[in-house]
Amino acid sequence: KPIKTAEFVKSSSKVEECPEGNLPEYAFIGRSNVGKSSLINLLTNHGKLAKVSSKPGKTQLINHFLIDKEWYLVDLPGYGWAKVSKSQQAAWKKMIARYFETRENLTNVFVLIDSRHEPQRNDLDFVNSLGKAGLPIALIFTKVDKNGMPKSQSNAAMFLRALKKDWAEVPPHFMTSTVTGYGKDDVVRFIRDINQQ
Ligand code: GTP
Ligand code: MG
Repeated sequence: KPIKTAEFVKSSSKVEECPEGNLPEYAFIGRSNVGKSSLINLLTNHGKLAKVSSKPGKTQLINHFLIDKEWYLVDLPGYGWAKVSKSQQAAWKKMIARYFETRENLTNVFVLIDSRHEPQRNDLDFVNSLGKAGLPIALIFTKVDKNGMPKSQSNAAMFLRALKKDWAEVPPHFMTSTVTGYGKDDVVRFIRDINQQ
């Protein structure tokens, strides 16, 4: 069942400004430029809901979108090589950490990982930090159209192997392309299944 309606609600610079936490909420996070905003547009069948750019560091605030009037989808700034100042990056980091610590209706965090690369330390560290905080997470390996399925799959498998020593079982994981639409239905189904529990 595809998403019917998606509407922008609000951009917040801190958790206190976020909309009332009365609905299940799904956050998208990952390195700058990994494709968070593009994926949100694909999932919602909405070309221009979330702002996309080839320049890393496009998304700077906590962006809430109301989906089918039933749940929130949240676009967050990326970590890593955003072309912004050190102090700005530190501020985002704090904002995101506070969001993860205090947002009680946060139902699942999707961590996006670029399938073109072998496991990167900062991605592994980030996933582990969310795991240690006890947050439910799922991984999404993005841009599988770029290097083809076999290479994307072997990079994803390597990432999951690298995680294994820290996790009792590997988190749910998906592969996506916003160019071909690959993986879209799987991610939407995953969210719908949780919402129905
Ligand atoms: P920040 O907001 O800067 O952290 O980036 P982001 O993670 O939201 O990435 P965004 O969606 O803005 O996409 C970054 C670039 O990657 C854009 O040029 C997109 O068109 C491109 N891109 C995103 N997803 C895909 C994909 O699945 N395949 C291909 N080929 N390009 C993609
Ligand atoms: Mg973005």
